[in-house]
Amino acid sequence: MCGIIGFTGYERAKDVLLAGLASLEYRGYDSAGISCFTKDKGITTIKSVGKVSELKALVPEDLASTCGIGHTRWATHGGVSRENAHPHTCGNVTLIHNGIIENYLSLRDELSTTGRSPVSDTDSEIAAMLIDSLYTGDAHTAIAAAVTRLEGAYAFCILFADQPDKIYCIRKGSPLVACQTEMGSIIASDMVALLRYSKDYFVLEENVIACLTRDAIEVTTLEGKVLASDYLTVTWDVSSAQKNGFKHYMEKEIHEQPDALLRTITPRLVKYSESGEFYMLPDFTADGIPDTLFLGLTRIIITACGTAMHAGMMGKILFEEFLRIPVTVDIASEFRYQNPILDANTLVITVSQSGETADTLAALRLARSKGARTLSIVNVKGSSIARESEYVFYTHAGPEIAVASTKAYTAQLAAFYLIAFRSAFACGRMPIEQCAKYTEDLSSVVLSIERVLERRDEFKTISRHLIKASDLFFIGRGMDYALSCEGSIKLKEITYIHSESYAAGELKHGTLSLIAPDVPVIALATQHDVLAKMVSNIKEVRARGAFVILVTAKDAVIEPELYDFRIDLPETSDRFAPFTAAVVLQLIAYNTSYLRGLDVDQPRHLAKSVTVE
Ligand code: M6R
Repeated sequence: MCGIIGFTGYERAKDVLLAGLASLEYRGYDSAGISCFTKDKGITTIKSVGKVSELKALVPEDLASTCGIGHTRWATHGGVSRENAHPHTCGNVTLIHNGIIENYLSLRDELSTTGRSPVSDTDSEIAAMLIDSLYTGDAHTAIAAAVTRLEGAYAFCILFADQPDKIYCIRKGSPLVACQTEMGSIIASDMVALLRYSKDYFVLEENVIACLTRDAIEVTTLEGKVLASDYLTVTWDVSSAQKNGFKHYMEKEIHEQPDALLRTITPRLVKYSESGEFYMLPDFTADGIPDTLFLGLTRIIITACGTAMHAGMMGKILFEEFLRIPVTVDIASEFRYQNPILDANTLVITVSQSGETADTLAALRLARSKGARTLSIVNVKGSSIARESEYVFYTHAGPEIAVASTKAYTAQLAAFYLIAFRSAFACGRMPIEQCAKYTEDLSSVVLSIERVLERRDEFKTISRHLIKASDLFFIGRGMDYALSCEGSIKLKEITYIHSESYAAGELKHGTLSLIAPDVPVIALATQHDVLAKMVSNIKEVRARGAFVILVTAKDAVIEPELYDFRIDLPETSDRFAPFTAAVVLQLIAYNTSYLRGLDVDQPRHLAKSVTVE
């Protein structure tokens, strides 16, 4: 949430900041602003409500500055207004902030006795006031003193009016990554803003202070000890964070799924030999994940938020089927406050595309503090969750920019399939032949997804029927129920159509009263073992006039009177149908949003990376 960027160097700051903000805009897009050191005039601040393009229109072409900070906001404290947009200035201090200062009200009252009063409703401005109140010419001392008073999460980039061309930064909870290049020093919330300048970057540790000057980034502890920075390298190139001819990032990312899955699955396949036979099995030696992680487990808890949590629901089904130990799936924001029972025989799996989701990170920290084993499934290399987890399984989906998660979800599914197969094999609960067969089937979903993508126009007809809907239901059983949760969130977050997912057998316990004539019901019936039951549930909604869109297997025998549209998935065994069905649901959501004329990539009120609780 909120994108922040700072640059000091040899290029025009405004160009670097505006380009960076455009690439970080998915983190928040209700208002934006920049502050730059300018010759003679000191710090110039320009802010506007709306998107980065609106800010850009206000920034003078000749803004001569080579050092500045920029922010794109996702409002938490205070409405969407120019006053509440960042940067905020108090006295000598101008700052941008990502996170939430929880004790800002008491600080505000305290600081009002020093003659400082805020002009905005934000918690961030109070941080500027606090740092200014502690500043007597030594930035390091003022920041170090300020953070002992701040409760909550923050990533700050700070300019001091009397220290031209320097940017000070500190973080706790919210991300910051930085790189030093020939054109200068640059820091941002996310690597995507650095990509056009460098593939090498480092993650700023929590509670250390970075001072950016043109030619160096000095990182010191709060006590002033200089630290070395460990650089990481991304394999992405600039084009992987661009639209590459697609209308929207979401459309592009849906189409990138075959590659994302190949990159996630293939490096984990290793040839084993047994009794003279060769088998390709999942193997996580290169990931540093030992089989012993799975031995002696009595329980698995999967915790995550949103789409990542829905991937976890599928993980539960797989682990319980193959590993045969109990699994619970918890929403991370609930898990952390329910005093979970954890021990050394519990494996807590956290799942996150960004690796920065505040609730998931807090759940992971809780799990570690209680002595559970921890494994994270994460897409962003070097992110907080990846760094703090005992073991990490990286999905290699590449940068996901659209707020609606698509390729990260199917890559998370692939991760769960691989981990379920490997853990069951390692624990002696899945014979090698079976493990090899399932692994082969998993690899073949890549081709099946390609077949679905070739049929994308077919699903537009369905979206044309959905654009006028005000309510919609997804129903399914087993894996199809887990998938219906994902289908529903995808549709509602980008189309603004109210939608709910229901375990099909649960409808008659309340929800059927909402099924009126022509209410669309997307019925997922991909699992043969519950097909007959599912057909009964479809009959129940059909009898009440529902407009039924059926997603099913080619060979499923279902009376045509029971549906208005039927989508047959490419042939796969039922166990792997969630991959192809997910792509169908993503395309339906995407087309419906587009046909409704909405902002597909940046839906209202949402942001990509949720770094506040
Ligand atoms: O970065 P994470 O995977 O931790 O994000 C979790 C959710 O915020 C995210 O999946 C969200 O639900 C998506 N926008 C849904 O498409």
